Amino acid sequence: MQIADVRTELDTLTVTWHDGGEDTYHYVWLRDNLLTADNLDPGTGERMLNFDELPERPRPTSTRIESGDLLIVWSDTESTCRYPGVWLRGNSYSPAARRVRRNFFPEPLGWTFTDWSEGPCFDYHTVQRSADTELECLRAFKTYGVVYLRNTPVEEGIAEALCTQLGYVREVAFGRVREIRSDPANHHNVAFSSDEVNPHADAVNYLWPYQVQFLHCIANDARGGDSRIVDAKSMAEQFRQDEPVHFSTLARVLVSYRIGAGGHDLRADAPVIELDKNANIRMVRFSNQQRRTLSVAHVDVVAFFDAYRAFSKLVNNRKNQFHFRFAPGDALMFDNHRILHGRTSFEPATGLRHLQLASTDLDMVDSRIRMLSKQTGDAQNTAT
Ligand code: OGA
Ligand code: ZN
Repeated sequence: MQIADVRTELDTLTVTWHDGGEDTYHYVWLRDNLLTADNLDPGTGERMLNFDELPERPRPTSTRIESGDLLIVWSDTESTCRYPGVWLRGNSYSPAARRVRRNFFPEPLGWTFTDWSEGPCFDYHTVQRSADTELECLRAFKTYGVVYLRNTPVEEGIAEALCTQLGYVREVAFGRVREIRSDPANHHNVAFSSDEVNPHADAVNYLWPYQVQFLHCIANDARGGDSRIVDAKSMAEQFRQDEPVHFSTLARVLVSYRIGAGGHDLRADAPVIELDKNANIRMVRFSNQQRRTLSVAHVDVVAFFDAYRAFSKLVNNRKNQFHFRFAPGDALMFDNHRILHGRTSFEPATGLRHLQLASTDLDMVDSRIRMLSKQTGDAQNTAT
């Protein structure tokens, strides 16, 4: 986008674009964003000058337009500084531009599908082959918090490879890849038994639990072991509407989560419903099995248990869950901060049940979406 005109004001300047639109920029913002090699690392775009060494109220001594770019000479610099029109437009911080940037990722949608054919289901080979399909798959993950991959190779290492493709495996105690099979010798948590495991989030005993998980099925021959997932974030939104007092109790009272096994004592104290500063739900930290002795003010004890019971009933209600059965070669990618997962008990004597679980951070999914958006020419976040 080319600049047609520039108008200077007291603390700002306003450019008029060739399409007639306008954008306003503060001098202090422009001076901070000097696009020269000594201000920005040419390889990474990282800022090199100390902000506190810049003038407090920078002023241009002259401004002009050349080939659609803005040229400024600042009162404290001798040389002419170029601000390319494309760069200025891409980094506009007008309310409209900021809205577009905020909407770069799809809004999360609560789901009610009862079959994968209604939900986000992708063929592994198509995702591997096509950047458009991979982008669609990752955007569906952002929307629903879960995607189902079919036809992955029926072999070990796929959950790990899927994380590595996104960037890295986020390792945790008890393994880079968790082997989920009935294994009494390696019993770090109840998932390593053949017992029923009610819907829960993993790693709730970490200060910042990993967010992206791949659960990959290698064998599912045993009787039982059916899977269930529930959109806990959407349940929590419903809870906020229906039970506002209980909701605020679960958003406030700290629960202790702990796993003490394998030479580790990993603990985190956090509310069941974790909110950000705008009261949006960041994470539903629900794991009844990792919840430890309540240690809160007397006044909160009954209030907490009443709220917890009501929320627990909601996520354990069959009608709020989606039930399915893994076939070998199926993989579930899910947002561990939003979706709870569980399984029915199984009978190890009737056949092998073997899944692998590996995790990574949401940063890697978001980064991949940005890269793929650029590559496929999809809408992109132009801010640098
Ligand atoms: C787990 C888990 C589910 C399953 O390992 O954390 O929840 O289907 N496993 O075995
Ligand atoms: Zn689990």
